[in-house]
Amino acid sequence: MTPEQVAASYDQIADQWVDVSTYGFAQIERAVAFVKHRGAALDVGCGTGRLMGLLSGHGFRTDGLDVSPAMIARAWERHPEAELFHADVCWWELPRSYDLIVAWDSMWHVPLAHQEAALKKLCQGLSAGGVLVFTTGGTDGPDEKQNSYMGPPMYHATLGVPHTLRILAEAGCVCRHLEYDQHPELHVYLIAQKSAGDVPTTDDLVRLRPVERGDLPRMYDLQLDPDSNRMAATIPRDREAFDSHWAKVLGDPSVASRVILVGEEFVGIVSCFPRDGADHVGYWIDRAYWGRGIASRALRLLLQEIPKRPLTATAATSNAASLRILQKCGFVVTQVRHDPATDRYPECEVAVYVLR
Ligand SMILES: C[S@@+](CC[C@H](N)C(=O)[O-])C[C@H]1O[C@@H](n2cnc3c(N)ncnc32)[C@H](O)[C@@H]1O
Repeated sequence: MTPEQVAASYDQIADQWVDVSTYGFAQIERAVAFVKHRGAALDVGCGTGRLMGLLSGHGFRTDGLDVSPAMIARAWERHPEAELFHADVCWWELPRSYDLIVAWDSMWHVPLAHQEAALKKLCQGLSAGGVLVFTTGGTDGPDEKQNSYMGPPMYHATLGVPHTLRILAEAGCVCRHLEYDQHPELHVYLIAQKSAGDVPTTDDLVRLRPVERGDLPRMYDLQLDPDSNRMAATIPRDREAFDSHWAKVLGDPSVASRVILVGEEFVGIVSCFPRDGADHVGYWIDRAYWGRGIASRALRLLLQEIPKRPLTATAATSNAASLRILQKCGFVVTQVRHDPATDRYPECEVAVYVLR
């Protein structure tokens, strides 16, 4: 099931969640005890806001995120003071870092293929010393299931405990607690804490270098990703079209194409190129790295390197993440138009942004 379908299922049962149950409170309080600075908290999959009052009571200014419109509407009624985001955690970009992130019985609804990226993103979103508490399925390997126990169809998935622990460690987090709190059910909750040391931020690690011929196979695979194409409203090039496009680009001095690296990791490309008499910019990020501010940072680096102005960028109006990146980098929308289908783009509504 997709997050949209999970959301539709929760929309049907939202009223059942407007309760005062204290389920999970003790576990979350165990996590709170590790937090040094009680500043900003985030409740991922906040549902009707059941846990947000608990967090506020511990002194956190708590934001909520949920993919179900009906659930978040009820959270809004309960917590009109809170900042609430109606979005899918897979594509949502964290607006700030958090001292505490709670994802109670929500991350397991994320499609298995997106769980690693989503979990990494939450770890990345912790401030130094910040704490993440979340639940997952306590299997040894990846697993996914669909059932209708709650009424409407529901999807659950887990990466399994060993893989989950690896992701936390690689993200600079230490596991403080892991418990099968409903044993013999395979319900596990974990508390992880981001190192309080001087950890380099993603911003520090992002850098650009010119595209080289040896990058083309990786770039070809990247542009085939169906989720990225759905998000960007693009149609991938076949091998022949890709090779001929990049043969032209690499020989064209008016085009600046840069590989985006995070540390030594190839995570995407960002380019400045002439089109229809204007200088355009564009970017493409590996889906595993979405939502970490990498595109914004890479675009800023390119803008520092390329003094040309004005610069134009276009994005499908449905691509909220891309619109936000352009706005963050100072681009201003000048036009919204309806573009017909071509061999590179499906018919769609496009926003034209300009940086002067
Ligand atoms: C079992 S409820 C838990 C609600 C709340 N955490 C609590 O304990 O009361 C799971 C919540 O996660 C939300 N959710 C599921 N998939 C999500 C996604 N991809 N992004 C954001 N929220 C999601 C659902 O809409 C639902 O409100």
